[in-house]
Amino acid sequence: MRGKRVARQQWSSSLMFVLAATGSAVGLGNIWKFPYLAGKHGGGIFVLVYLLCLLLLCIPIMVAEILVGRIGRRNPVASLEILSQLSGCRKSWRWLGTLGMVAGFLILSYYSVIAGWTLSYIFKTATGEFRGHDAEGVENFFIEFIASPRQQIVWHTLFMTATLVIVAHGIQGGLEKAVELLTPALFLILTILMGYALGTGEFMHGALFLLFPDISNLTAETVLAALGHAFFSLSIAMGVMIAYGSYLPNGISIIKASLIVAAADTVVAIMAGLAIFPLVFANHVPLTFGPGLIFKTLPMIFAQMPGGTLFGGLFFVLLAIAALSSSISLIEPTVAWLVEDKALSRGMACWLSGMTCWFLGLGTVFSFNIWRDLTVFDKTFFQGLDFLTSNLLLPLNGLMMAIFVGWFLRHKLTRSELDAGPVLFACWWLLIRFVAPGAVMLIFMQAIGIL
Ligand code: PHE
Repeated sequence: MRGKRVARQQWSSSLMFVLAATGSAVGLGNIWKFPYLAGKHGGGIFVLVYLLCLLLLCIPIMVAEILVGRIGRRNPVASLEILSQLSGCRKSWRWLGTLGMVAGFLILSYYSVIAGWTLSYIFKTATGEFRGHDAEGVENFFIEFIASPRQQIVWHTLFMTATLVIVAHGIQGGLEKAVELLTPALFLILTILMGYALGTGEFMHGALFLLFPDISNLTAETVLAALGHAFFSLSIAMGVMIAYGSYLPNGISIIKASLIVAAADTVVAIMAGLAIFPLVFANHVPLTFGPGLIFKTLPMIFAQMPGGTLFGGLFFVLLAIAALSSSISLIEPTVAWLVEDKALSRGMACWLSGMTCWFLGLGTVFSFNIWRDLTVFDKTFFQGLDFLTSNLLLPLNGLMMAIFVGWFLRHKLTRSELDAGPVLFACWWLLIRFVAPGAVMLIFMQAIGIL
């Protein structure tokens, strides 16, 4: 085994693990990405497929990843190597860890740019810039903002720096505290936003669009997008849950923890959808508006409601913290790998990976302005990166993980580590061994045109 053994931190309690994993799962994916994907892919049908993927494929894979981390007790690459040796199979399974790390790294490069938009909107909202503007005025703000590489680079830099400072200081302390406060606050603020959406007169229209599937909208593309987003939103297939699982004390139920995280993640996404779609319909925003959707719709509420500047500022602060607790988890596997296997100091590992990621993020910044017309297969840099990660790398990684844990990992190891009753264990085993690999493979082949 290469690399050195470093003293490893652990989560201080099972609650802390659940909060941190929820912090990783709940982020821009729920509030920024879920609504615009649902809008683009037919609403209810996207949500239905998403929920099915979550329940049947992603939760079992999440359990598998936490399990791999807790047995291996190292970074994703080393944990997979250790487990494959323990199970008497090829060491090359370590590449799965590498693939996940690469995906997380690529995602962080654009995640930081969008989180930068959120930071900038804290100030725009809190200083009352949107006051008195109608839908068109709010949209113009957004168009002007993304047309400026300079502004976006400033916020992207700030966000990346904040991520690195936290990661450099280790997993406990600030992060645990922040997440403890964040999750309840986010629920509260989303509830209030839903209350405002009720007043638009289009609440039922929005709710029906989001919750009632229209089967005629079902396409292979929708299914792949829903699958990829389920992976993205739960923070799986990227080594993140392996890394977080490696800090998990023994004696905590992995299945229970995974179910709680998945439930919280789903509730936040649905609440965000219920707050946003009534506004979309009330203001005739096109459903295919794309990544700018929340930056166009939500400031409209803040511009009109009493106390909207304060409330809106607070909303974007919470969203930025939610993004931060996700971004630190995106870079943690790479940092842990550089520290444990490449003998770099934690600080050095953070800055090296962070700077590279920051640089890559410039591609996303430019894809909204000076490189907007530069497309390959009809996709800008940002769209290409998003497609490559969410729709290709994540499903591929999730598929391989299910195959590894279901077919190669020694059964005795799995059985002793997963403290579930016989029925629950049998259900999980069935899902991870047959359903998850089969379904992901089918969806994947169908979507890339092999089937
Ligand atoms: N799940 C996070 C979100 O929904 C994003 C994320 C993906 C975080 C992968 C970590 C790993 O915003």
